[in-house]
Amino acid sequence: MSGNITFTMIKPDAVKNGHIGAILKHINDGGFKIIAMKYSKLSAEKAGEFYAVHKERPFYGELVEFMSSGPIVAAVLQKDNAVDDFRKLIGATNPSEAETGTIRALYATSIGKNAVHGSDSDENAQIEAHFHFSNTEMFV
Ligand code: CMP
Repeated sequence: MSGNITFTMIKPDAVKNGHIGAILKHINDGGFKIIAMKYSKLSAEKAGEFYAVHKERPFYGELVEFMSSGPIVAAVLQKDNAVDDFRKLIGATNPSEAETGTIRALYATSIGKNAVHGSDSDENAQIEAHFHFSNTEMFV
C-alpha cells in the first residue's frame, strides 16, 4: 500500500463553516478514492500526540487547542502519487500563499486555521493513517 495513500483531516474551522461536502467533492474530483473515513473529535491529548513532531514549535499549544476545539473528518485517500498530488490539491500551508483554486485558497482562513491537513511523506501517511484507523477500518 506504501506510496499510494495519504492521510487527511478536514479541520474544525472547515467543519464549522460547513465545507465538508465541498472539500469531499474536491477530493473525489481530484481522482482520490476514500478508503477510510471517520467524523470525530480529537481530545487535546490525541491532538498533541498526532502533532508531537511540532512540540518544540511556538505554535504547538495553539495548534493542539484548535485541533481539539471541534469535530474533524479524518480520512485515508488512495491514488498513484497520493502524497504529492494531495499536497498540490490543498495548496500551501499558509492560505495567503496557496495557489488559486486549491482547497486552502478556497476554504482556509489563516496558517493555523488552514481547513485541511495532508501528510508530508509516504512514511508519515502510513503512520498517520494507522494513528486514526485500524486495518479493518481501511477498505483498499
Ligand atoms: P498541517 O498540515 O496540519 O501540519 C501542521 C500544522 O501546523 C499546519 O498544518 C498548520 O495548521 C500549523 N502551523 C504551521 N505553521 C504555523 C504557524 N506559524 N502558526 C500557527 N500554526 C501553524
